[in-house]
Amino acid sequence: MERTVQLTDLAVAGGCAAKYSAKLLQDLLAGFVPAQSDDLLVGLAPADDAAVYRLNDQQALVFTVDFFPPLVDDPSAFGAIAATNALNDVFAMGGRPLLALSVAAFPEALDAEAVAAILAAAAAKVREAGGVLAGGHTIRDDEPKYGLAVAGTVAPDGVWLKSSAQPGDVVFLTKPLGTGLVLTGHKKGLVGELELQTAVAQMTELNAGAADLLRPLSPHAVTDVTGFGLFGHAFEMAERSGVNIVLEADRLPALPGAIEVAKAGYRTGGDPRNRDFVEGRLILDGVSPELAALGFDPQTAGGLLVALPAMHSVVTAAEFRARDLFLEHVGRVEEGAGVIVC
Ligand code: CO
Ligand code: CO
Repeated sequence: MERTVQLTDLAVAGGCAAKYSAKLLQDLLAGFVPAQSDDLLVGLAPADDAAVYRLNDQQALVFTVDFFPPLVDDPSAFGAIAATNALNDVFAMGGRPLLALSVAAFPEALDAEAVAAILAAAAAKVREAGGVLAGGHTIRDDEPKYGLAVAGTVAPDGVWLKSSAQPGDVVFLTKPLGTGLVLTGHKKGLVGELELQTAVAQMTELNAGAADLLRPLSPHAVTDVTGFGLFGHAFEMAERSGVNIVLEADRLPALPGAIEVAKAGYRTGGDPRNRDFVEGRLILDGVSPELAALGFDPQTAGGLLVALPAMHSVVTAAEFRARDLFLEHVGRVEEGAGVIVC
């Protein structure tokens, strides 16, 4: 059936590119006094991928919410991407999802069939993550938006923070970069359907498998790469941990088509915001413009950024290879402050 209204026509900015900039968010939260509670293990001081609240000595609740406008036209793909992106914040804290609720806004111009497809794809993704989509709330809005509030659990002593990377750690990334560039390039006719489908396949891949492999290895610091791009999230990890993270530009993995789009001079809307965020605190040392663009590209449902002891790096790489999961060694942690990309 021919759709008269394409999903992305209704969106001003799709996916994680629609996120508030990190800088603006910091300013907004500056006047907000975060709640204090002995059981609030992770709240806003400092913020992480999700909030964590201790229920008892064995269990803590991991709670997150994430939603955005469509970044692709296929309703099923949009539902699956939005769900994956929200569920991944639970995995990024070391947790496992239990229960999810839809957070939805749809225009009346959108047909019921498309809405049903978004919800069905999200429900399937929640099931795949080991949870249940139990309900939700929908309002009318000219710009469609979809996502989930997700509750999960984690052992109180198994919470993965972004603030505990240590000098001597190696830094790994569990997905290639460039979702924003590929989507932009596809809109401009620069990359084909195959590249788009590869990017969609990656954006609908849960970080569950990677998290399962990492859990027994007790990584020092973990976060997921989303709207602030690899460089923005690496910077957050470095700043909160009080360390310097060194990234090697020629090790940065790229989705098919991403580098070509960057070389053609296209940038995503989030690119300047992400550069602004790390201004003066991230050094690009002889990095080509296209690899810099890859590092600043906002990612939707990106991979895990992991810092773990160097002595575990060989075992980690072997385990990911054995399970056929993507892993790239992208850098290391040193004493100091900020991020150096060389
Ligand atoms: Co996150
Ligand atoms: Co998130």
